[in-house]
Amino acid sequence: MRKPLVIGNWKMNGTRESVLQLLEGIQSNIHFLSQIETAVMPPFVYLSLVAKKIENTTIAYGAQNVSQYSDGAYTGEVSANMLRDLGCEYVILGHSERRVLFHESNELVAQKFLAAQRAGLKPILCVGENLLQRQAGETLKVVRQQLAAVLALVDNLPALTQAVVAYEPVWAIGTGQVATPEQAQLVHAEIRKQLAEQNADVAAMIRIIYGGSVKLENAASLFAMADIDGALVGGASLNAEQFIEIGKQCNNLS
Ligand code: PGA
Repeated sequence: MRKPLVIGNWKMNGTRESVLQLLEGIQSNIHFLSQIETAVMPPFVYLSLVAKKIENTTIAYGAQNVSQYSDGAYTGEVSANMLRDLGCEYVILGHSERRVLFHESNELVAQKFLAAQRAGLKPILCVGENLLQRQAGETLKVVRQQLAAVLALVDNLPALTQAVVAYEPVWAIGTGQVATPEQAQLVHAEIRKQLAEQNADVAAMIRIIYGGSVKLENAASLFAMADIDGALVGGASLNAEQFIEIGKQCNNLS
């Protein structure tokens, strides 16, 4: 069985004070989410603060990006080993904001995936098409290419069961325009099929979560789909109550 996973992607938001407040709100209600796994992804600079605050809780944490290099003269970069050193369990890779705004290619994302996996981090690989690609009927092709680039580089296939794929249609991120459960399910099922071509166990065990304008109002219908194993929540994860309420929708179906 795949344990559902609800993740808060805080992006570049917060102060030390707001981070502590947000965690307080999540922590005091985390008992409502006993059937699922919950994780938060703060900016790098708040990772230590988060680690200390949620010590001895069931809340996991991770980073939003990582370097493809292990160490050395790479000013401004953060390595996968450093993230492990801080107790991170997860790392988000290939978010569309990084692909679009920071020009991360499929190949670079694949290298980062490998670096994360080798350091013992669980990579959360984001894939998804933009609006033009969807309108051109290229959704499945684009997502397939993004995943294929990673599969081509990965040298430890069984370890992929620990990874997470997040289907995040770019047109749904931060726009309030969520994919319908059927639109999302179709892509999730294709992703699982593509993984099954490599390894049936990986396909059965890997969690494929949805991201893009997940809110309390649309969460339950998304979680009800067979291949949607949770959510990567952006905007709504900055509000403890909303984040917990979304988590509850997932928890209640588990
Ligand atoms: P959103 O962001 O929930 O604000 O649309 C999701 C994401 O970017 O991971």
